[in-house]
Amino acid sequence: MIKPQKNVSLKTYNTLGIDVQAAFFTVIKDLQDLHYARDFCRLQACSWLLIGGGSNLVLTQNFAGLVMVMAMSKLDWTSHTDGLEVCAESGCEWDELVAASVKRGASGLENLSLIPGQVGAAPIQNIGAYGVEVKQCLRWVDVFDFNTGACFKLTAEACELGYRDSIFKRHPHWVVTRVNFQLGHHALTKDNPAQLGYGIIAQTIESMTGEPAVGATVQQIRDAVIHIRQSKLPDPKHIPNVGSFFKNPIVSAKQTAKIQQQWPDLVAYKLDDGRFKLAAGWLIDQLGWRGYSQDGVGVHQLQALVLVATGTAVTGDEVLALAQRIQADVFATFDVVLEIEPRLFNSRGEFWLS
Ligand code: EPU
Repeated sequence: MIKPQKNVSLKTYNTLGIDVQAAFFTVIKDLQDLHYARDFCRLQACSWLLIGGGSNLVLTQNFAGLVMVMAMSKLDWTSHTDGLEVCAESGCEWDELVAASVKRGASGLENLSLIPGQVGAAPIQNIGAYGVEVKQCLRWVDVFDFNTGACFKLTAEACELGYRDSIFKRHPHWVVTRVNFQLGHHALTKDNPAQLGYGIIAQTIESMTGEPAVGATVQQIRDAVIHIRQSKLPDPKHIPNVGSFFKNPIVSAKQTAKIQQQWPDLVAYKLDDGRFKLAAGWLIDQLGWRGYSQDGVGVHQLQALVLVATGTAVTGDEVLALAQRIQADVFATFDVVLEIEPRLFNSRGEFWLS
């Protein structure tokens, strides 16, 4: 049974630290609570918002409906001959899952160490870092449909996982309740190699261990990823932020070549389909935004892709105003549209900037 509280501040439930209120607020401890929450919203004729780690959302107004915080967090491990399977409830902290899998020597999630947020968010944005996306070891997802109250399973394929994208973005009434991952059984082997494609990982392992990166253990990769993230990305506990504020834009080969004529150092990765993914942080950096700060909102000193809210009473609109100035500047200079990565919410629900 849930007993929603009234007018609760969400400041500590979003990593930008934006101080808006939820008209109603409750913690979800099990699947039954989701059914109660759905009944509550129908009775009150109000909207709802499920917050995981709050590390990928921008709140611009008091929320007029029910805010739920996910607290279902059981982990269930099964060993198979060909690997280790873990079934994680969506409220489990992502990095606790990664740490537990690395401790068991299982491979697959180590490059995704220290990403803030909860397990339930992982399939929604297909979280990715250092050459690995969650798509690579996700097997299935349990879903609760908040519109109908139905529970069902989606295979990884049915999740339509793409770059920071999935079917969940097109079905916002689907709540992820459990995620199943298939991990490598043993430490890394020839058949199950370490994901060292991202050059900085190998360099960091070599400088941390004094050994060639090729034989690295999952723990050594995790340590290297943690080291890199801590040296580049602000810890939301100390500097409020939501990680990358923009997606890396994907543009045609023709446009990439055109930009390169004027900007030969452009950071661009060729994709299988011939297009290029550009480093948005690099584009923003060239325009001098890195380290910018005004009225408590700014751009991180070390990574131009991360907006930071250092002021005491920053609003979501202030953060979005800065994002829009950056988008306009990048568009005017490079003719490239930067898409906002976190999800935006006003009093009634999710919205998108045109
Ligand atoms: N760069 C700059 N200046 C900057 C930032 C970046 O010149 O201010 C250059 C870097 O030197 C590098 C390139 O841009 O050559 C790419 O930078 P980086 O390796 O830091 O990665 P990213 O593309 O900026 C993406 C993800 C991150 C993920 C890293 C590592 C997106 C939107 N972001 O960032 O994910 O940790 O790769 O794999 O895809 C997140 O989603 O919140 C996030 C942090």
